[in-house]
Amino acid sequence: MTEPTMDIALIGLAVMGQNLVLNMNDHGFKVAVYNRTTSVMEDFINGSAKGTEIRGFATLEELVASLKRPRRVMLLVQAGKPVDAVIAQLASLLEPGDIIIDGGNSHFPDTQRRYEACQEQGLRFIGTGVSGGEEGARFGPSIMPGGDPEAWPFVKDIFQAVSAKAGDEPCCDWVGSGGAGHYVKMIHNGIEYGDMQLICEAYQILHEGLGLDNDRLHEIFTEWNSGELDSYLIEITRDIFGHREDGQALIDVILDTAGQKGTGKWTGISALDMGMPVTLIGEAVFARCLSALKDERVRASKILAGPEARFDGDTATFIDDVRKALYASKIISYAQGYMLLREASKHYGWDLNFGGIALMWRGGCIIRSVFLGRIKEAFDANPDLDNLLLAPFFTQALKDCQDGWRRVVSQAVQIGIPTPAFSTALAFYDGYRHARLPANLLQAQRDYFGAHTYERLDKPRGEFFHTNWTGTGGNVTSRTYNV
Ligand code: 6PG
Repeated sequence: MTEPTMDIALIGLAVMGQNLVLNMNDHGFKVAVYNRTTSVMEDFINGSAKGTEIRGFATLEELVASLKRPRRVMLLVQAGKPVDAVIAQLASLLEPGDIIIDGGNSHFPDTQRRYEACQEQGLRFIGTGVSGGEEGARFGPSIMPGGDPEAWPFVKDIFQAVSAKAGDEPCCDWVGSGGAGHYVKMIHNGIEYGDMQLICEAYQILHEGLGLDNDRLHEIFTEWNSGELDSYLIEITRDIFGHREDGQALIDVILDTAGQKGTGKWTGISALDMGMPVTLIGEAVFARCLSALKDERVRASKILAGPEARFDGDTATFIDDVRKALYASKIISYAQGYMLLREASKHYGWDLNFGGIALMWRGGCIIRSVFLGRIKEAFDANPDLDNLLLAPFFTQALKDCQDGWRRVVSQAVQIGIPTPAFSTALAFYDGYRHARLPANLLQAQRDYFGAHTYERLDKPRGEFFHTNWTGTGGNVTSRTYNV
């Protein structure tokens, strides 16, 4: 019988799992590991885990038996059915009070369901976002745990020790109950999609529109990374432009079809469900979908005409305009993401801490940036902030950037370069700052064809009117409701 001396177990020794285990070991925690394919576990134990306190087990029974109580078992297996399968196996081996942690990219409704099912069995369930890729997992990821609040005190020390730090503060804190942790991770990923798309649009304008080569792009991104755009994604983009294989820039030979595993799409679906205009992430997901239609695009490129116009402005000024467009659009994207977080927090009763979330994303994760420090400051100054765009720092930044941003979007339209994210961000900005939108006409149309009723500016809100527009309609109105 194995002595229960191990602090935590980790199931699933793919890249993230192995690195997180080594990270936990570095921080003095005794980690027991298991992998469905035993040889993977053995290779790990005899390879990078050699000489550490990490111990491998060939069966879940032995793994569980090695753990101190309450037992803490973390899963880093593929999201979806594999998570349910492992939980089902563990449930019969664990005791009431034990803790199961799902650290994969699970969809938050699944996490909510698993939390409830575990609760019925007396088990405590945590669904946590873990971001930062291989390097983050090894040296400090951003960790976003949610689920059963009773479980948090038992994992807090481990998670906060291994997480990234922003200054002295851990990029890990309790997010909220049920599916809150995975929801916040989903929004993180949606924002990641948005940031990546914005960078890609800047690339296409600079490369195709201005004819800049990879060396010049490398210089531009190096410069951008030293200012307000300083972030992990700008940094890796800089390095990508500088990367050569056999004298050839690798970026030039990579096929232009993007993959996706679903977290961006889930963000878009949640935005539609919550009625929040998270347009930039939506465009970022659709841009990946369009990129995937490679063969069709190749055929269309030989048939559909573009404009004759070519860029003929001042290159240096325009490069700086692109920087401004990128920065302003990024502000819009995060503002939209936070609008969705706010609505979801109300809807699911999570009481999310928006400044705390910015801090969790400040270091370790894929969207880590100096910019997130600004968001944290905005929420620290006013935790009830209606919208990030209204925080004085961001209001001013948008004001400073908007001329350049508008020049980029109009120039891109003139020369036929697609900028769905830059454009939707600008359209959102202009829509959000309009006290009056053309929805009066929309309401009139709805009332005209379907007696859907409308409210009036000169009457109290909540009073609905119907007009017999043609003189031939009846007086019956259709119920007005907002989804
Ligand atoms: C992270 C990332 C990660 C995600 C990849 C791939 O935070 O470390 O978000 O969780 O899986 O970025 O996502 P896509 O395949 O959907 O681009």
